[in-house]
Amino acid sequence: MTMENFDDFVNNLQEQIFDEARDAYGEKGFQRWRNPLFHGKIESPDGQARLTGDCGDTMEIFLKFENDRVKQASYFTDGCASSAICGSFAAELAMGKDPDELTDITGDSVLKEIGRLPETDMHCASLAAATLQEALSNYMSVRRKGK
Ligand code: FES
Repeated sequence: MTMENFDDFVNNLQEQIFDEARDAYGEKGFQRWRNPLFHGKIESPDGQARLTGDCGDTMEIFLKFENDRVKQASYFTDGCASSAICGSFAAELAMGKDPDELTDITGDSVLKEIGRLPETDMHCASLAAATLQEALSNYMSVRRKGK
């Protein structure tokens, strides 16, 4: 294969992968997959949680509050593309919310925000929401102890 052919081959392969991801996640999910906002760990968070789903993937959520509202949120996962997209949207949904509003975030809210997920990956949205709820519980228990 010449270098030019090889470049074409790689470009075609990439286009094919992008098309498949667009089909699977819709345009909004696809864009988030390409640009995983809210990814990473937050130093000394006010609330954090780490959950492993039945699938074996682990999700972490980090929250930092100011005046009892989320000022900073992030996710970290070793899981599939769907879990990364779900973690990212869960963190985005958490931004600016107080504890009461945070309790309303469910797997369905995460899913609704993305628009679409492959049927087999619906549990990734639930894992992201469950981890967010755990991070909130962590914040609440630390707050109760009067940190
Ligand atoms: Fe388990 Fe995505 S979080 S397959």
